[in-house]
Amino acid sequence: MDTIANNSSTSTYDRIAEVSAFEESKAGVKGLIESGVTKIPHMFHSSKLNLNSTHETDSSSKFSVPIIDFQDINSTDPCIHVEVLNKIRNACKEWGFFQVINHGIPVSVLDEMISGIRKFHEQEADERKPFYTRDVSKKVRYFSNGTLFRAPAANWRDTIAFFVSPDPPKPEEMPHVCRDIVIEYSKNVRALGFTIFELFSEALGLDHSYLKELISPYGQFLLGHYYPACPEPELTTGISKHTDSDFLTILLQDQIGGLQVLHQNQWVDVPPLHGSLVVNIGDSMQLITNDMFTSVYHRVITKNIGPRISIASFFINPSLEEVTSNVVGPIKELLSEENPPIYRDTTVKEVFAHYFEKGLDGNSALHPFKL
Ligand code: OGA
Ligand code: NI
Repeated sequence: MDTIANNSSTSTYDRIAEVSAFEESKAGVKGLIESGVTKIPHMFHSSKLNLNSTHETDSSSKFSVPIIDFQDINSTDPCIHVEVLNKIRNACKEWGFFQVINHGIPVSVLDEMISGIRKFHEQEADERKPFYTRDVSKKVRYFSNGTLFRAPAANWRDTIAFFVSPDPPKPEEMPHVCRDIVIEYSKNVRALGFTIFELFSEALGLDHSYLKELISPYGQFLLGHYYPACPEPELTTGISKHTDSDFLTILLQDQIGGLQVLHQNQWVDVPPLHGSLVVNIGDSMQLITNDMFTSVYHRVITKNIGPRISIASFFINPSLEEVTSNVVGPIKELLSEENPPIYRDTTVKEVFAHYFEKGLDGNSALHPFKL
């Protein structure tokens, strides 16, 4: 029996047994709620260390995450265009995060996406269970906690994942309650992602299509998260402190809130802003920009209201074997005597391999590549 002492209490418990029973239910955290739990199972208890940092937030923070308006990105007035690029460059360097408004994706598409993902998680358990798997070769995957068997504590969250590009699942492989909107939303977000790559390229002083051409052969996947209202929110976490390992993440969140980013050693809320999307830099982008853009820690705290729904779209880190051997390293055009490379060239595969260790202790995945 694998019994471990949990930092949040003096008792011990059979973690393997608890985790295994949870996994076999194939019904996720939502399944626990459906079974009527009023206390959260031990496996979800975060350690004291984590909890202190999880819930000590300065709500009167003097900081706020930048909001960037894309209304005028195509303005022929060079001053306006340069102003947008400056805002993007500063946000990506200082915060690794910004919220974008007037991005061109209809609000109805965003709202329907949130409602489609909610419907998936709220249908009868028997409808969800056939999608439950840890087989990462599956293009549609329902699971709770990617690191369930490795992390010291589970997060209060379920997820449905879709690999949507370059080789999307067949519509009939997708849950019918959200099939159409997932396809529609992915297409829209992919186009926005390409626009952002163009703006990033210009903000870095590169040719307009530089990043798009570098990154577009890679993949895109979506995670549709469901964070049920939690009866004991002070004991657990929605998503532990982490950085993303992709190039770029575009996140859609509903109105519940709980996402926080670490800025100047303070956790700062990313307040829900209806119609907006949250954009953040991943480790791979930090690496190729030689730290001109930074991948920043973020997390989701648990609340006793909910559910909270969010959809993260990752521009990655491919699903195809052949691209994993592609070399990535600091972009040569960005390097000079004053700005020597901070990282060695590596492969996407290697970056990905380090992701799993990083995912557990919250460290940046980039350390192994530092020169
Ligand atoms: C993620 C993530 C935040 C959220 O999926 O990597 O950080 O609000 N999600 O769900
Ligand atoms: Ni993230």
